[in-house]
Amino acid sequence: MKNICCIEDLRRLAQRKVPRAIFDYAAAGSYSQQTLRANVTDLARINLRQRVMIDVAARDESTTMLGEPVSVPLGLAPVGMTGLQHANGEILACRAAQRADIPFTLSTLSICSIEDVAAVAAKPFWFQLYVMKDRGFARSLMERAFAAKCSALMLTVDLQVLGQRHCDVRNGLSVPPSLKLHNLLNMMSKPRWALGVLAAGRWSFGNLAGRIKGVQGVSSLAQWIKTQFDETLNWKDVEWIRSIWPGKLIIKGILDVEDARIVSRLGASALVVSNHGGRQLDGAPSSISMLPAIADAVGSDIEVMFDGGIRSGQDVMRALALGARSCLIGRPYIYGLGAGGEAGVARAIDIIRSELNVTMALTGVTRIDEIGRHNLVP
Ligand code: FNR
Repeated sequence: MKNICCIEDLRRLAQRKVPRAIFDYAAAGSYSQQTLRANVTDLARINLRQRVMIDVAARDESTTMLGEPVSVPLGLAPVGMTGLQHANGEILACRAAQRADIPFTLSTLSICSIEDVAAVAAKPFWFQLYVMKDRGFARSLMERAFAAKCSALMLTVDLQVLGQRHCDVRNGLSVPPSLKLHNLLNMMSKPRWALGVLAAGRWSFGNLAGRIKGVQGVSSLAQWIKTQFDETLNWKDVEWIRSIWPGKLIIKGILDVEDARIVSRLGASALVVSNHGGRQLDGAPSSISMLPAIADAVGSDIEVMFDGGIRSGQDVMRALALGARSCLIGRPYIYGLGAGGEAGVARAIDIIRSELNVTMALTGVTRIDEIGRHNLVP
């Protein structure tokens, strides 16, 4: 990981190492990608307040997330098909997160299964749930996550229908997958990636493969998944989830004050202010632009997490200053994974941590709980 100074360096390296269709799948947003861009540019517009001549020698980035101690207020967000960015991607990302003392979230649509990750995890991880029309299957996912000792369930609520990413259609990464010749040639031009994925023997949806009656193979599983997103999903279903999942519950995908108020009354442990990394409602505001009003509306009733566009420790500082207790990252660690496997994910976390550390010093802050709006230029 020599000469890797920032997340952008990891992105460039991943772009060289990972087949184009797979890289594009991670990098892209839906439709015109307006919301994807806004997530990043709106964060960059927020000016941090430089303060000087304050003793900042005893800085400490550690805090808690859901009551669990973390070395920095950062978690790895759920990302589908992580195990295609790099062989055994979910296992490697979980290991890097746990070695850095931050939480890892496994997606329902992962390549490595809940059990694969649990077999190597040093401590409990979080599991993200998409509620399928097949409620029996959704129930079994929660039961499996509980059996695997997952310490929180993250319910994603912003994906009742799928936003379209044009590049996935063009690359044949649609349902059913129809990989074009140029994609196959491109994959063969990345032999380390291809050999790794082949050797790992995991290229299907690990949580689903072999568990859906009459559905075999990646292509038919992908078709099954597409028909399974439940358009009827509503707040009442959270009661049903609560009746099955006894542990901590995180609601991810809140971008509206009204919705945030509803969540704070549901008794969930946390909500994630998120627009799914600009992959769902194109034209929605950036996550950061909605954070202050949501944080104000829920106050201390519920822990507020934030994601969307975080690319540096400075961005983490901005989100904390605007009311988030902690941040999640998606693409930054996915780029790290593509660039260098577990070491790349560790590097992504480390970059953000050390940027936050320096940013705290230069804004005159020594503890995470000191960070607030006073650290921004009004
Ligand atoms: C995601 N995201 C996501 N969210 C979720 O709840 N379940 C999932 O399976 C996925 N899958 C997924 C795939 C890819 C390739 C990306 C980039 C994102 C959304 C993710 O959890 C998170 O909200 C965003 O990635 C945050 O934005 P940044 O950090 O990528 O800008």
